[in-house]
Amino acid sequence: MRIGIIGAGHIGSTLAKYFVSAGHLVAIANSRGPETLRDLEADLGYNAEATTAPGAGRFGEVAVVSVPFGRYTEIPVAELAGKTVVDTMNYHPQRDGVYPQLDSDDTTSSELLQRHLSSSHVVKAFNTTPFDKLRDFPRTGGEALLYGVPVAGDDDAAKRCAFDLIEEMGFQPVDTGSLAEGGRKQQPDSSVFGVVLPAEELRARLS
Ligand SMILES: NC(=O)c1ccc[n+]([C@@H]2O[C@H](COP(=O)([O-])OP(=O)(O)OC[C@H]3O[C@@H](n4cnc5c(N)ncnc54)[C@H](OP(=O)(O)O)[C@@H]3O)[C@@H](O)[C@H]2O)c1
Repeated sequence: MRIGIIGAGHIGSTLAKYFVSAGHLVAIANSRGPETLRDLEADLGYNAEATTAPGAGRFGEVAVVSVPFGRYTEIPVAELAGKTVVDTMNYHPQRDGVYPQLDSDDTTSSELLQRHLSSSHVVKAFNTTPFDKLRDFPRTGGEALLYGVPVAGDDDAAKRCAFDLIEEMGFQPVDTGSLAEGGRKQQPDSSVFGVVLPAEELRARLS
């Protein structure tokens, strides 16, 4: 599968490594341009290329958006139309600026992204797991499939796509519900944020 990754930082680059090792083709972008990503590109090997954000959007059959939430309106819209978009972002007001509708809990950051990408199918995943644990946990031994990754979304096919990627990585997807309901369960103030738990324990904590 062709996967476009917008955001080449801790999470974007960690996911890129998983995806290329699973045999996917990756195009990855940051805000400063592909020439600033040559080291990562070399590290990822022949199945990856550095590009621009619109380039990654066009390239991907599926896309990952992994930028600071405060920049979500910069994510290209037309290039992602009709596609599954995996949203790893979290709202941190001290970094992202204040969004009153999030502070009042009227909506969630993923619903705002979905509104921006109105023709795409947004799935929230990989947002609760610190990047170093995401990088290291499935490789710690025979318990690979035990660790859970929460997934929220409104579109079943898009969720299935995220589930498949998570399973390939050696984690177990845990469905938290819609972007509104599940998205709230995965937010920075939630009980599953910042921890890595065996899938059964994660399910118990979420219920
Ligand atoms: N770090 C974690 O452990 C962790 C865990 C779960 C979720 N998250 C969430 O996932 C998101 C990414 O986190 P991170 O730690 O990977 O961030 P990061 O290391 O700061 O990387 C952010 C990346 O986004 C790029 N970027 C910023 N604006 C962009 C734009 N308009 N178009 C394209 N690329 C853009 C940056 O490129 P430039 O450097 O060129 O600006 C950089 O490559 C955040 O929302 C964060 O809250 C983080």
